[in-house]
Amino acid sequence: TGAFTYDNGFTATASCKSAVTYIDGDAGVLLYRGYPIEQLAQHSSFLEVAYLLMNGELPSKGEFDKFEHEVTHHTMMHEAFRTFLYGFRHDAHPMAMLTGMLGSLASFYHNDLDLEDPEQRRLAAIRLIAKVPTIAAACYRYSIGWPIRYPRNNLEYTTRFLHMLKEVPSEPLELSPVAAKAMDLLFILHADHEQNASTSTVRLVGSTGANPYVSVAAGVAALWGPAHGGANEAVLKMLEEIGRPENVGSAVAKAKDKESGFRLMGFGHRVYKNFDPRAKIIREMTHKVLGELGVNDPLLEVAMKLEEAALKDEYFVQRKLYPNVDFYSGIIYKALGIPVEMFTVMFAIARTAGWVAHWLEQQNDPENKIGRPRQIYIGSPQRDYVEFGKR
Ligand code: CMC
Repeated sequence: TGAFTYDNGFTATASCKSAVTYIDGDAGVLLYRGYPIEQLAQHSSFLEVAYLLMNGELPSKGEFDKFEHEVTHHTMMHEAFRTFLYGFRHDAHPMAMLTGMLGSLASFYHNDLDLEDPEQRRLAAIRLIAKVPTIAAACYRYSIGWPIRYPRNNLEYTTRFLHMLKEVPSEPLELSPVAAKAMDLLFILHADHEQNASTSTVRLVGSTGANPYVSVAAGVAALWGPAHGGANEAVLKMLEEIGRPENVGSAVAKAKDKESGFRLMGFGHRVYKNFDPRAKIIREMTHKVLGELGVNDPLLEVAMKLEEAALKDEYFVQRKLYPNVDFYSGIIYKALGIPVEMFTVMFAIARTAGWVAHWLEQQNDPENKIGRPRQIYIGSPQRDYVEFGKR
């Protein structure tokens, strides 16, 4: 293998030192800045978690109020964004639009951005956290032909997003507190997960000195894949295809058959070789949310049967494949009336907090170097160019 270690998929390479998030995959432990995810899920809010991830400590009341005020007052989109948005095909996937729209933020805020100035870096991070829900909601509304709704600054972060997403101009949105709380909790659980593919992408782009807007847009692109954030959408489609609890057995058999090319979506994880702690929290919440909202979704029964069957199956047991965060999240999003194409967008809104926290950490890191992996060359040895007629 020449002078380099071949580490396909970076399963054994630490790309950075980080103080943001800790995972013990064997024990099923997840800590943000040292705080267990279970405690944050129970007591905190998404915006407080975003502050914690960015700054390293929980805020005092005064610090939190200031942060919330700043985020709230950066939620607007430049009016020119609307024209840009209207250039997409009407049936574009919201993730395609989100990638483009976030990248385009650089065209609005790049020229005077001095990355050497910590205050400007902080402001860029706040802009991203503030604007991503506005942009995400606009992408969705455009995709269904509804007029864009502007942010209402008298609402808090998650509720404001749900209003922008769902409110019809003629009637005020009746939002149940259970729905807002469930959404906020999902955002907390998705906020960070150390060096996953999208965060590593943000860091790789960030390592070149590129601005945070395009770095985060690159993260959104990486998140879209079904092996990563696209899994929540894929899970729901899979459950719909399975359709009935009776069909679970054949789905499990198909997932075990490598020839089929089918995997159980929402199962398995690179780091967790135990229950994903986020999946445990979401699983419990799914029952609560569906109960309180009075939603009777037959897919929940399919999901429960599928989980039960896989957890008993030798193939899944041997490989330590457990349900991951995305297994139940789609069922909750569906119960909240979020359309399936928006599921990965929801993940992106939450993960923006983690992406900017990692970007800030990297920019502050005196050891930061451009990310530049090596390769094992397997191509032709040196040879001479041959003219057309002689090939
Ligand atoms: N269904 C069936 N078999 C599986 C599955 C699955 N979901 N996941 C892994 N395997 C098998 C795989 O075929 C391999 O078997 P063998 O050792 O016989 O070759 C073994 O388990 C190890 O899998 P791997 O692909 O080498 O593991 P990885 O760490 O490279 O992949 C993963 C991790 C999450 C991409 C993979 O488990 C997967 O494709 N899961 C389904 C997609 C999914 O739910 N993704 C969301 C991940 S969590 C949220 C996020 O990160 O965004």
